Amino acid sequence: MCGIVGYVGNREAVGVLLGGLKRLEYRGYDSAGVAVIGPDAALHTAKKAGKLAMLRNELAEHPIAAGVTGIGHTRWATHGGPTDVNAHPHLGDEGKLALIHNGIIENFADLKNELLAQGVEFDSETDSEVAAKLLGLEYARTKDLRAAFRAVVGRLTGAFTLLAVHQDEPGVVVGARRNSPLVIGLGEGENFLGSDVAAFIEYTRQALAIGQDQMVVITPDSVTVTDFDGNVVEVEPFEVQWDASAADKGGWSSFMLKEITEEPDAVANTLRERLHDGDVVVPELEALGDDILAGIDRITVVAAGTAAYAGLVGTYAIEAWARVPVDVQLAHEFRYRDPIVTPTTLVVSISQSGETMDTLMAVKHARELGAKTVSICNTQGATIPRESDAALYTHAGPEVAVASTKAFVAQITALYLLGLHLARIKKTLPTGERRAMVAELEAVPAKIQKTLAVHDRVRQLAHWMADTRSVLFLGRHVGYPIALEGALKLKELAYIHAEGFAAGELKHGPIALIEPGLPVFVIVPSPRHSEEMHRKVISNIQEIRARGARVIALAEQADAAVLPFADEVIALPLAGKFFEPLIGVIPLQIFAMELAAAKGLDVDQPRNLAKSVTVE
Ligand code: F6R
Repeated sequence: MCGIVGYVGNREAVGVLLGGLKRLEYRGYDSAGVAVIGPDAALHTAKKAGKLAMLRNELAEHPIAAGVTGIGHTRWATHGGPTDVNAHPHLGDEGKLALIHNGIIENFADLKNELLAQGVEFDSETDSEVAAKLLGLEYARTKDLRAAFRAVVGRLTGAFTLLAVHQDEPGVVVGARRNSPLVIGLGEGENFLGSDVAAFIEYTRQALAIGQDQMVVITPDSVTVTDFDGNVVEVEPFEVQWDASAADKGGWSSFMLKEITEEPDAVANTLRERLHDGDVVVPELEALGDDILAGIDRITVVAAGTAAYAGLVGTYAIEAWARVPVDVQLAHEFRYRDPIVTPTTLVVSISQSGETMDTLMAVKHARELGAKTVSICNTQGATIPRESDAALYTHAGPEVAVASTKAFVAQITALYLLGLHLARIKKTLPTGERRAMVAELEAVPAKIQKTLAVHDRVRQLAHWMADTRSVLFLGRHVGYPIALEGALKLKELAYIHAEGFAAGELKHGPIALIEPGLPVFVIVPSPRHSEEMHRKVISNIQEIRARGARVIALAEQADAAVLPFADEVIALPLAGKFFEPLIGVIPLQIFAMELAAAKGLDVDQPRNLAKSVTVE
């Protein structure tokens, strides 16, 4: 939620901030603002409700000073609606300082009452303005931005990334984080702060990740990181592996379309350097120690949304290969159910952003309970991998569209690597079978590439269905989580009621939803893997067809048995039992995107959503 950028150097700050905000806009897009210290040593701000384009228009009409120090923010509203006034930055010290915030200040009401009692006036309904006003008072007292900022962060509870500038200290940006992301970009004679590396990737790939409860002060030539008590801490630099163009739309009509076409690479890059001589060796897992992995007797996956569905896909293969029970728990539920976690439990978190607060809290809880934790994450320098015992990065490249696509297939790939790595250590899968699975994995990118050819056909379907009000998705076994994911994509992108069911569950209630003309996508498993399961799904299709449903079957290309019973068949390349989801999900992603486009909706930034959900 909320994207944050800070800059100090020799370039015109507004341009740098707007560029960074553009790359972070996926984090929140209901309002945006910037603050810059001008050559006149005064603070200048602009902020506007709506997408970043509104702020750009405002700045085009009413340009602000060309300063070289500034901060910028793109918002996803929590406290107070998306209005100009509630947009960040918020001001303190009689308009001489500006502050931006990501997260939720949980004790804001108490602090606000305290400030109101002192006669402080507020403009907005946000929790963030409380921090700005507090900082103003502290600055007035100390005349030292660092000291004032330290005093303020020490008083806040909850989750926050804060950045601030004061006109009396040009050339300085201060920042702090607790349970919300903040990374530093290191330049020559300039430095950057950002919610993630996309904020500054255009200028530098040298970065530092700030730890929990740490503060940073950047000037053009220095970066100082301290804890909240002011003790200097050493932070590990890292080189950003994404290049700037990876986070650009290029010639594509949307980021989502670009990212769907990148799915073959997302899988191939995630496999790279983890396959050796036809077997799986994941160096990041080796760091955990073979003895520990050999002793793992239970795996719990914690994740949310699409990442949780990737986890659900992974359970089938990991259990089959490593013979360890695997369950998936929604990260936001995990802590509240008193989970059974022991030192021999491996808790695997999955998060594209690596910042999802629910997932972060689940990981912390798991560690407190003594579990070993592995993070499957797509974003370097993110919090969750740093809070875990081991990190297995998916190399999908930056995912900018709010709805997750390429990260999903990369997450399943990473889970399969984990499953095969464990199977090797636990000796639960003969070498020949492991190698066969590796060969299947290696073949996935080409199969996804082939599947992308269904795009025109699926677009046509989506256009025919542009007025549809409800769609169901059915699957069995690994097709079940794909049904859930197909429904989620449609809900979030096209705002259509959609539900995914395990096909066998239908007769236990949901079949009552079937009425003439209702579109039902059915993910048909290959008869080559299980004739019984295939037969059962064909029976399910007949049951719903008999009640008037319009059946769109996703079936492997040689599956003639499905033809007589389906209104439409989307033919997919042949794939191994556990690998069908990596292929079957593609037409469903395309369908949701095309249906949203047919309705004239913004497929990259659906309403009410933000990509990185950093509040609980
Ligand atoms: C749906 C989607 C979300 C995310 C979920 C977790 O398209 O993107 O459901 O999967 O919010 O996000 P990460 O993976 O960043 O933890």
